[in-house]
Amino acid sequence: MSEDRVTLNAVGSATELDLVPGTIGDTGIDINRLRSATGKVTLDFGFANTAGCKSKITYVNGEEGILRYRGYPIEQLAEHSTFLEVAYLLFHGDLPTGDELARFQSEITHHTLLNEEMKKFFDAFPKSAHPMAILSSATSALATFYPALQNPVDPYAVEQSALRLIAKMPTVAAMAYKKSIGLPYVYPRNDLNYSTNFLNMMFSLPVEDTEVDPVIARALDVLLILHADHEQNCSTSTVRLVGSSRANLFASVSAGISALWGPLHGGANQQVLEMLAQIHEDGHDYKKAIARAKDKDDPFRLWGFGHRVYKSFDPRATILRNFTHDVLDRLGADDPLLEIAVQLEDVAMSDDYFIERDLYPNVDFYSGITFRALGFPVRMFTVLFAIGRLPGWIAQWKEMVEDPDTRIGRPRQIYQGEVLRDYLPVTDR
Ligand code: SDX
Repeated sequence: MSEDRVTLNAVGSATELDLVPGTIGDTGIDINRLRSATGKVTLDFGFANTAGCKSKITYVNGEEGILRYRGYPIEQLAEHSTFLEVAYLLFHGDLPTGDELARFQSEITHHTLLNEEMKKFFDAFPKSAHPMAILSSATSALATFYPALQNPVDPYAVEQSALRLIAKMPTVAAMAYKKSIGLPYVYPRNDLNYSTNFLNMMFSLPVEDTEVDPVIARALDVLLILHADHEQNCSTSTVRLVGSSRANLFASVSAGISALWGPLHGGANQQVLEMLAQIHEDGHDYKKAIARAKDKDDPFRLWGFGHRVYKSFDPRATILRNFTHDVLDRLGADDPLLEIAVQLEDVAMSDDYFIERDLYPNVDFYSGITFRALGFPVRMFTVLFAIGRLPGWIAQWKEMVEDPDTRIGRPRQIYQGEVLRDYLPVTDR
């Protein structure tokens, strides 16, 4: 093996393959010529060993528990930045100047309204509709109001689509929530910042003046920062794959929302709260949950535990574990589920089953308790994850579209079905 190539010896043939180094982290073996050179393909369930792209957006080191957006450590961004500043950073690649940030915030603020026609869209859903179903449908539907912004290779159209999605997602989310509880929609306000505006649309009523607690608004902003991007996770890979067919940004993000909804991915934050509530109801019998999680015949998992990449602590979970205590203290609230979560973590972290499999708490383990402390109902938790992840999806989609190496995503397969059969008339079967 030379510095920049490896030799693959496959059934009598030696093939030289280029190495593709990162500025930090994994080095790739370029297998673009593999099938033509060896007649073989690779097989990699869940793409656990396969890079689908080169990226400059987010770096995750699972062994050391590192997460950086455009090189900035998540710990520093959570402490010093705001969600819209992080959204700007992910999209443009650098932190904005004061003027750039002010302009970006103003553009977002002035795009928060939905076309009034969209109200009929919400009327079509039953009150019981899960807000993630509404969010993914509404996101795709939004494209119909911006026919001039559909061209994925027009930088102006992409930037304008990004602004509208980031601006309108909280409005859609709040309307979905109000619809589910039969209360009137609350319009966005231009005098409120992003997170305060969202909380006002979610929880205020037209019949009284209410002030959003700045502690809650800041806590929500930090939560959104922590969810903003995470390199090539399931929903981001979905956004990239759908976008690789030149589908527009709205359609690609709509697909990402659907992927995030799954309980193994973003839907885990709702599962965690339901699991903790069940343990609470069972008289704090968290040992039963641990036993079920270890039982191969039981589909139950210890929700909020384990990660494809983090084989040590998820830095977001570390931040959230302390942050949740602070938020509850500052709100003068306490939540028995937090105590159960801490106990569950302690027991799991001393259990060989979890230790041997490198299963640690992930971002979803504590986020739900914080969302609940801020007043959000459980069914809105994954919607909050989607609002947070939106700038990451957009930045990753834009990077994919702009990458000259991008091709339409079309994996191969290993066929193991019937080789060849002749059709038999039904009378002969
Ligand atoms: C997110 O990729 C990302 O970056 C995602 C994310 C992001 O920001 O975008 O970080 C957000 O999705 C976090 C993950 C939220 N999901 C959950 O909390 C659901 C519970 N966790 C798992 O289902 C699981 O850990 C995954 C899905 C997160 C990871 O799945 P993998 O990498 O495919 O691992 P696996 O399912 O093959 O598990 C390996 C072993 C298995 O046991 P063995 O067959 O080796 O005996 O660990 C076991 C699993 O059964 N295992 C668990 C477990 N997670 C894994 N056992 C019990 N409880 C769990 N939570």
